[in-house]
Amino acid sequence: AEGAPLVLVSNRGPVTFQEDGEVKRGGGGLVTALTGLASHRDAIWIASAMTEQDIAVSDEHGGRPFTAELPDGGSYKVRLVASDPGAYDRFYNVFANPMLWFIQHYLWDLSNAPDIRREEVEAFEFGYNVVNEDLARAVLEEIDGQEEPVVMAHDYHLYTLPGLVRRERPDAFLHHFIHIPWTQPDTWRVLPTRIRREIYEGLLANDIIGFHTRSYQRNFLQCCRDLMDLEVDFERGIVFWHEHEVWVRAYPLPIDADATRAVARRPRTAEFEGELLRRRREHLILRVDRADLSKNVLRGFTAFDVFLEQHPEFRERVTFVAQLMPSRTDVPEYAEYLERIEAVVAVVNHRHGTPDWMPIHLKLRDDLEEAVAAYKNYDVLLVNAMFDGMNLVAKEGPLVNERAGVSILSENTGAHEELGEFALSVNPFDIQELADSIHAALTMSPEERKRRLEGLKGIVTQRDPGDWIDEQLADIRKKERGDGT
Ligand code: G6P
Repeated sequence: AEGAPLVLVSNRGPVTFQEDGEVKRGGGGLVTALTGLASHRDAIWIASAMTEQDIAVSDEHGGRPFTAELPDGGSYKVRLVASDPGAYDRFYNVFANPMLWFIQHYLWDLSNAPDIRREEVEAFEFGYNVVNEDLARAVLEEIDGQEEPVVMAHDYHLYTLPGLVRRERPDAFLHHFIHIPWTQPDTWRVLPTRIRREIYEGLLANDIIGFHTRSYQRNFLQCCRDLMDLEVDFERGIVFWHEHEVWVRAYPLPIDADATRAVARRPRTAEFEGELLRRRREHLILRVDRADLSKNVLRGFTAFDVFLEQHPEFRERVTFVAQLMPSRTDVPEYAEYLERIEAVVAVVNHRHGTPDWMPIHLKLRDDLEEAVAAYKNYDVLLVNAMFDGMNLVAKEGPLVNERAGVSILSENTGAHEELGEFALSVNPFDIQELADSIHAALTMSPEERKRRLEGLKGIVTQRDPGDWIDEQLADIRKKERGDGT
């Protein structure tokens, strides 16, 4: 498909429209990964209209593609697809989050008997599948008339879309990148068998399926063997499915270093820095996350509590800044999680705080400049997710940090496969180990801190999202030509 625009499709798009008509950047790792690509290459990005304003804008354009400009300069050719609001609610708030997200982060609490009843099954049939059909239809329209088009689908929202596109377009090249972990076979057994089959069959209509790490790749191959009874080749990363080969590959996502450095230079970032510096104590511990259960925010605060208890000499000398962006708040588990976060912060601040020192500063907002200002100034960056597909904060923080800051990094993040050597690795469930790591980081020699930060900076600048996409396009071409693996 030389010359034809690249067709990207995901649930979350690069832009979302606010009530006052303002355009905002979409949040999360997927959008960060694709924005550079979509603004620098000839690409069309098909995404769901997620808010009422998105739907209004989509309607204004008759559901057709249009160009959206962001205030900070990005420009994207997008097509926002408005699904029936009831179906969308079931898709997003009942099936994709929490069910799929929870399963794929090992958050599904078996002891607490999460029931699957008619509501959940219907959320798949009349929610998940409806949104997948709507997006598939938009994809089919965009590739109409193209010979052997290439479609790149993203993430766990779209597992059944590839099967739908394949049915109409056997000639299309279908590539799917999954931004979250792929868990071990038994975790999938909680889904009704028929739904599980539909998900795997949908996915196996792809030509290539990409993951962030080798371990997710391996888990996926194992699932295909154990749950679908298929022949797989672990060495070459292939699933054999109805006479055709599905390539299963790992392409770890890099950050866009230039873009992040540019944010670091913005005047608004400097304003936040000034404020941070005026208020800072000797040491600053930082975390930046979506307020998501997988990020393990509560255990992070508990570990800080234990640390202050066991090392009282650090009281009044260290502040923990937690910038958490509220996320998926219509899902009850997420709304409740925010409340629990606020409660734990209140307890820790009450227990250790003094009239002129508040141990934890909780900032519940999504503000890129504010986050980057803090990246430049932390002494310790805490990334303690229980499980996380990649985690880009672990890469962006060290890139712009100017204080020889130390990274504490959960061994269950995708980023750990690349950065583990230069971070303090932690088991995210071990609160004492985390408290000890905070102490180790704050007492580490300046030379050692510097050595580690330089190591991290070296790794995160080796590749960029352009390379990431090129690696995938190279495999697409290889497979199109029928070259080996
Ligand atoms: C993760 C997922 C993305 C998602 C993002 C934000 O990074 O992998 O697919 O877009 O979280 O979540 P949201 O539900 O707000 O799109």
